[in-house]
Amino acid sequence: MIRDPFERVAIFGAGLLMTAFFVAIVIGAFGLGIRVPTCVTDIPPFDQPAVVEVAPGQYVVNVVAQMWLFNPREIRIPAGSTVTFNLTSKDVQHGFKILNTNVNMMAVPGVVNRAQARFDQPGEYLIVCHEYCGLGHHAMSAKVIVEPRVAGEPSPNLARAFASAATCWAR
Ligand code: CUA
Repeated sequence: MIRDPFERVAIFGAGLLMTAFFVAIVIGAFGLGIRVPTCVTDIPPFDQPAVVEVAPGQYVVNVVAQMWLFNPREIRIPAGSTVTFNLTSKDVQHGFKILNTNVNMMAVPGVVNRAQARFDQPGEYLIVCHEYCGLGHHAMSAKVIVEPRVAGEPSPNLARAFASAATCWAR
């Protein structure tokens, strides 16, 4: 039994407030059609993470981080390429650090983070998750594989320079 009148007011007030919040949610969801934002990973380009060549020597990689892997796991590009990384997460926060480059980002669900790097030296660049994300955190990695340029093939930077020069001359 409630004796204190203030207690009665507090309980009644709290009940009223909760009812008001509930009614607001129901009106928002069904009356006004307000929806929470859907996951970024359900829509292009993140529904199919991949490496995309956008121009000679220019790549865009759409990366999805999830427990406990990165998709794509292997990013293969020729030496001298400039790569833009678009990064998001499917579940919790992850880290995205590419060793020996200045790429160091967080993969945040619902958000896309972006960084760019140029890979002139052939070799393998390890990508590690450096934000604790659970049991498999220590094993969460991927790599950028920079393949040596075939002899005789012009470097993408040279090709780019020629292409822009040609556009200038054509004007
Ligand atoms: Cu993902 Cu740690």
